[in-house]
Amino acid sequence: MKRVLIILLVLIVVGAAVFLWRTRPDTADGTAPAIVGAPSGADAVARGAYLARAADCVACHTVAEGGKPFAGGVAFKLPFGTIYSSNITADPETGIGTWTDDEFVRAVREGIRNDGKHLYPAFPYTSYTELSRADVLAIKAWLFTQPKVHQENRPNDLGFPYNQRWAMAFWNAAFFRSHRFEPDPARPPAWNAGAYLAGALGHCGECHTPRNVGFGMKQGDALAGEVLQGWRAYNITSDGVHGVGQWSDDALAQYLRTGHADGHASASGPMGEAVAHSLQFLTPEDTAALVSWLRTVPAREGKDPIVVDPRAQAMVASSEAAPGADAGANAMGLHLFEGACASCHQWNGAGQQTRYASLAGTRGVNDPKGANVTQAILQGVKMRIGESDVYMPAFGHAYSDAEVAALANYVIGHFGGKQGQVTPEEVARRRAM
Ligand code: HEC
Ligand code: HEC
Ligand code: HEC
Repeated sequence: MKRVLIILLVLIVVGAAVFLWRTRPDTADGTAPAIVGAPSGADAVARGAYLARAADCVACHTVAEGGKPFAGGVAFKLPFGTIYSSNITADPETGIGTWTDDEFVRAVREGIRNDGKHLYPAFPYTSYTELSRADVLAIKAWLFTQPKVHQENRPNDLGFPYNQRWAMAFWNAAFFRSHRFEPDPARPPAWNAGAYLAGALGHCGECHTPRNVGFGMKQGDALAGEVLQGWRAYNITSDGVHGVGQWSDDALAQYLRTGHADGHASASGPMGEAVAHSLQFLTPEDTAALVSWLRTVPAREGKDPIVVDPRAQAMVASSEAAPGADAGANAMGLHLFEGACASCHQWNGAGQQTRYASLAGTRGVNDPKGANVTQAILQGVKMRIGESDVYMPAFGHAYSDAEVAALANYVIGHFGGKQGQVTPEEVARRRAM
């Protein structure tokens, strides 16, 4: 009996030690590689402005319609409830105006609030942990020059046990490792800058890396594709068939800088936001650095891969005069497309009013499940790139579930040459999300 107790005690002590060891913060300040848009010699506020954009703080901390910048209140709907982002303006009562440098650094890199409580990983400290202390403080310096907004934080809507913030310590022990960016001396400086821009700042992996059942990122499967808020964030590894291995450097840079790459894709949904709020503002050198890094991401097939059929693209391009030839039994889809969509999208998918509307050759229309096609029809697209507005109206209110499904399947059939599988039930489920 006594021996059993001793063994148990030893196990508990070892367990606690492992737990403490795994959850200990990396105390290193860390050093960032040279970023062209944020030169180390520049003043901290100017650097912070660029870094905050590259990290896209504004996207999650500003309500899209009429919200004040950085005042928080953006809803993140998760399977177990809703989390609202915080007011991170320098307002001393409702924002973070009284936070010290150390408190801010700890929040951004370790996910721990000024009162010592854990933040949820809907806030991507899991990526920001790689940032250097100097860069985090530059972001703070700039953030604190922005208008203060007096707005109370909206309480989260989470049931037990998810509303227990202390439990996140266990999540961190399992899935989070506090660490700083480690440059690879064998690679050119631009590659290292690209790795930092994609990982520590741009947090591409938070959307594109598959997650396990516990919502932890599967690092062994980095960037192989995942679903978020109903949108598929595609496989962006260097895989030639399932990823972006076939895209030229120019096409990737064009996509990241403008949200559109000729013959490949236009960015909508969460990626449209990432381009509109963040990626379009990188210097051309920094975009090129990011692309040079993206090229080296090991090829992975990912789950549920989508193969772009090049034949469909050629077929559509040559059959501009035969819009109905491929409608099959889907007369409803053809009819709706003709009335509401063809003026912008054209039958050959090249895009009439703007090249952004070209659909042939995109991964979206080659996905038989039509995830992003359906999302785009329901939600539309509205973003500002450079000096112009990229716009598609939302059709969620205009059409029934059956009509949206027919439209999506027509688009998949006509532009992707595949049999669409979108059902009215699926559309209803997406509306409720
Ligand atoms: C992907 C969305 C997302 C991005 C990007 C993001 N945040 Fe947040 N942030 C959140 C959410 C959600 C919370 C609230 C989490 C919680 O309540 O546990 C939060 C909380 C915080 C907090 C804690 C505030 C408090 O009062 O507790 C700070 C500080 C913060 N974010 C700063 C930043 C900074 C700086 C950036 C950019 C470098 C940034 N965030 C980018 C989603 C995001
Ligand atoms: C907030 C989530 C989010 C973040 C952050 C994000 N992406 Fe995306 N990405 C998506 C989604 C969703 C799509 C699909 C967009 C669509 O269908 O219009 C996408 C599409 C893409 C595509 C097009 C792939 C194709 O086959 O069409 C590329 C390339 C890409 N992302 C690269 C990146 C890079 C590089 C980063 C980091 C700098 C990044 N993304 C960050 C969500 C995100
Ligand atoms: C006012 C012009 C306009 C109209 C009308 C319009 N679209 Fe679009 N659509 C666009 C533009 C512009 C884009 C590209 C936006 C982006 O992603 O940058 C787009 C994108 C899309 C996408 C690609 C989404 C993705 O990321 O994979 C699909 C699918 C689509 N539209 C379908 C439709 C359908 C179906 C209709 C009719 C119900 C329609 N559109 C009506 C302008 C329009």
